[in-house]
Amino acid sequence: MSFKRTLVTSALPYANGPVHIGHMAGVYIPADIYVRYLRMRGEDVLFIGGSDEHGVPVTIRARKEGITTQEVVDRYHSLIKKSFEEFGISFDIYSRTTSAIHHQFASDFFRKLYDEGKFIEQTTEQFYDPETGHFLTDRNIRGECPHCHAQGAYGDQCEKCGATLSPEELINPYNAETGNALVKKPTSHWYLPLDKYQPWLEDWILNNHKEWRQNVYGQCKSWLDGGLRPRAVTRDLDWGIPVPVEGAEGKVLYVWFDAPIGYISNTKELCDAHPDKYGTWEKWWKDQDTRLVHFIGKDNIVFHCIVFPSMLKADGSYILPDNVPGNEFLNLEGDKISTSRNWAVWLNEYLVDFPGKQDVLRYVLTANAPETKDNDFTWADFQARNNNELVAIYGNFVNRAFVLTQKYFEGRVPKAGQLTDYDRQTMDEFLAVQKQLEELLANFRFRDAQKEAMNMARIGNKYLADMEPWKLIKTDPERTATVLNLSLQIAANLEIAFRPFLPFSSAKLREMLCLPEANWAHLGHFNLMKEGQALGEISLLFEKLEDSAIQPQLDRLDRIRHENEERQREEEMKQWRPSELKAATSIDEFDKMDIRVATVLECKPVKKSERLLEFRLDDGMGGRTILSGIAQSYPDPSVLVGKQVLFIANFPPRKMMGIESQGMILSAVNADGKLVVTTVSREVKNGVQVG
Ligand code: MF3
Ligand code: ZN
Repeated sequence: MSFKRTLVTSALPYANGPVHIGHMAGVYIPADIYVRYLRMRGEDVLFIGGSDEHGVPVTIRARKEGITTQEVVDRYHSLIKKSFEEFGISFDIYSRTTSAIHHQFASDFFRKLYDEGKFIEQTTEQFYDPETGHFLTDRNIRGECPHCHAQGAYGDQCEKCGATLSPEELINPYNAETGNALVKKPTSHWYLPLDKYQPWLEDWILNNHKEWRQNVYGQCKSWLDGGLRPRAVTRDLDWGIPVPVEGAEGKVLYVWFDAPIGYISNTKELCDAHPDKYGTWEKWWKDQDTRLVHFIGKDNIVFHCIVFPSMLKADGSYILPDNVPGNEFLNLEGDKISTSRNWAVWLNEYLVDFPGKQDVLRYVLTANAPETKDNDFTWADFQARNNNELVAIYGNFVNRAFVLTQKYFEGRVPKAGQLTDYDRQTMDEFLAVQKQLEELLANFRFRDAQKEAMNMARIGNKYLADMEPWKLIKTDPERTATVLNLSLQIAANLEIAFRPFLPFSSAKLREMLCLPEANWAHLGHFNLMKEGQALGEISLLFEKLEDSAIQPQLDRLDRIRHENEERQREEEMKQWRPSELKAATSIDEFDKMDIRVATVLECKPVKKSERLLEFRLDDGMGGRTILSGIAQSYPDPSVLVGKQVLFIANFPPRKMMGIESQGMILSAVNADGKLVVTTVSREVKNGVQVG
């Protein structure tokens, strides 16, 4: 099928925090590369972006920071928008879902489906906080896990044992934010009956879009194989787009209903403002000659491949996505990126630490793009790719071509003479790589595509190394001129080949070469630089990164790791509730225990054991040794020396790690799992009994 134009969307980021490298690697950089490439080919393309400002995440952030939800979205929308601009993400429009245009558009979209009877209405019992008067979302409900009995499990998942939960399963559910106990209350909502769209979706995706990425196709297939059910498209919340139906007060459109409509309303906002330039928004959304492509991360696949298309199909007047290049996730130094745990490299902070180095991050994120599997970002790799690839290959080649031209030809493009076989071979190699590059770009394989662009630079580097113009100049100035001419032609080609990936560096290189902006069709031509033309001022495309620039980043992550552990501990302490009482016992049972007091004379870790501490005690009866498994709780066991402790004196001795333990020291298990040795509140004689 051939299309007249391409509409590219990239997932609307939640305006509940700044954007980080995971967002960039997964969605915005690949989308930007693709769009820049199409534009360079002269294709008609629109690139739509915007902030997703509804939903629960932004309201949680607002309560955490003690500001209004509107303030949250205003703050992060501007911050995100600025970061995208700074990193050269070349949106034609970057708008937001709190815009008046969007509210109207999404509201109308819902109302049309509502009027046409495309929804079903259902009443269900939902958890409700009688004190605040709010229905709660799964994530905002917490309680005891029915499986592992950990406290503070979420309504959708227990983080302790990993079980997937529904709020109904929680024992003693409560409002995560207020701690209030919850009741069930009936509420009615509108559902999109996805089950009705199932046969159509199966045909559309499984039969007709086998070319989609395997991870995307596979996820769709497993959703479809599982059987689709109706999905609620409204929520009981006070932040969002009001449901445009009488009697639906206090209900809003579900964020995943309104957000993708944002792609359309943002297109409309752009087209309405510049009809001469872009035409009508309907041309982009309702004309079969338009090719629609959604760039997303893997957590968005079901919404973009199943839910949103069903909404568009229900309306009936829209085109459907032709491809949905969905990426897996990028991790940071081995751990999942997380906004709430501050485990991320934030774009705004990156630019403070590495001013002007947007392209380095773009390069490294594309080189590690999680296209087929989750991938890891590490600072060591960042440094290595900068130093060994950008600087040592691309930058080095361009620099040598320039410096030599300055030196031997007064900074003017020298005249090319007769080409040798080796020259032609070099050009042929270059052209072969170019073909690869184009094919990869067309197939959304940006990571491999960028590798090919770097291979082009390698060809240039090798050419210079083999030709050795610095030696050649002594014997054959004419041949040297040809070599440097071809080198500069290659440099001009690299400017084009790298432009979708590294737009800032290409602009810089263009300035150095004094070249007007050539388009993609010029790639593969070796006459871009005209003989006699003066070169501009020389500057380095990339700079080496020393360890001293990287170390602060590693230190920062260490600090955050530490803070998170502390916070996790505090959280566990807060969530802790007493365990249930054990079955009744009697004084006779208790009397069988011989519990006594002793003073710690010595306390040291047991060799080769992570758990055990060896206590030497003055028990008033000649002394004894007891091993206790509390080493993790006492990193410095010497703090216990001199303390009086309680111990059970009449357990039979037991050998562990070659040492005989004569009893058991009593410890309290704190809420964070740490053990705390028990003691007496005033000094007593060693050996006295506890009872
Ligand atoms: N805000 C969502 C996320 O970050 C993505 C929304 S994409 C859209 O996961 F299609 F709904 F706009
Ligand atoms: Zn659990």
